[in-house]
Amino acid sequence: MTSAPSPDRPLAARVALVTGASGGIGSALVSALLRAGATVVGTSRSPHPERLEALPAQLRERLRVRVADMAEADGLARLVREVEREHGALDVLVPAAGAGDVRALDELTLEQWRHSLDVNLTAPFLLAQAALPGMLRRGFGRILFLSSVAAYTGGFVGPHYAAAKAGLHGLAHSLAARAAGSGVTVNALAPALIADTGMIAGLPESSPRPPVGRLGRPAEVADLALAMLSNAYLTGQVVLLDGGMRLS
Ligand SMILES: NC(=O)c1ccc[n+]([C@@H]2O[C@H](COP(=O)([O-])OP(=O)(O)OC[C@H]3O[C@@H](n4cnc5c(N)ncnc54)[C@H](OP(=O)(O)O)[C@@H]3O)[C@@H](O)[C@H]2O)c1
Repeated sequence: MTSAPSPDRPLAARVALVTGASGGIGSALVSALLRAGATVVGTSRSPHPERLEALPAQLRERLRVRVADMAEADGLARLVREVEREHGALDVLVPAAGAGDVRALDELTLEQWRHSLDVNLTAPFLLAQAALPGMLRRGFGRILFLSSVAAYTGGFVGPHYAAAKAGLHGLAHSLAARAAGSGVTVNALAPALIADTGMIAGLPESSPRPPVGRLGRPAEVADLALAMLSNAYLTGQVVLLDGGMRLS
């Protein structure tokens, strides 16, 4: 059942695009947005992502899955246009797809560096560049980038990943300044060590655990993402969700 946005349900009846919807965090985001009453277009590289097919049928009525590869820059503006055409608008953009192949500095090739920047930074940029004009025109929009604690600490994946994620912070600041005053917020959420994700599979055994004593949960990332997407006064911010790993 859909209903109009209200102060209690600001994301109800909004149209959201979530990339990497098949992943641990992406699927939790999709589920949270559907529960908040949004219609969600989720992208995956496969047509039948397991985690999305496991969602309750009633929620899936407002979910569309599209196959898209974030390394293929050419299709990304078209993806946004198609969502706008099919659903009348694109109100909420969460580019959550991320490539985190672990590489040490001395083995990192130029091709791997470029691939990381393509998926982790250029794709979010192209999607936001395509989505922003419609959001500005309609006077409402939410863009939330998925960064990482690695943007601050370097992390365990490697320089290609840390640099790409740090780039999202500058992108969020630049777009937030452009969109402030038009009902469009742009922020980034930077998690660390989230369980039940493909990303965590590469974590070395010797890595320090978060001070809270456990890994984070995808639902905890989704909860905070929903709060950030629901808040019209929060813009240009990077919010860390790291179990106390990096105290401010
Ligand atoms: N897990 C963590 O601890 C952690 C910490 C900090 C930041 N993050 C960030 O959180 C986001 C979600 O990752 P996750 O933790 O949920 O990991 P995940 O379970 O491995 O999910 C990664 C997602 O990215 C998609 N993806 C990878 N390469 C892609 C490409 N070339 N084109 C399209 N989609 C692609 C995957 O799609 P397929 O299913 O098709 O492979 C999958 O949906 C990422 O941006 C990641 O960098 C995660």
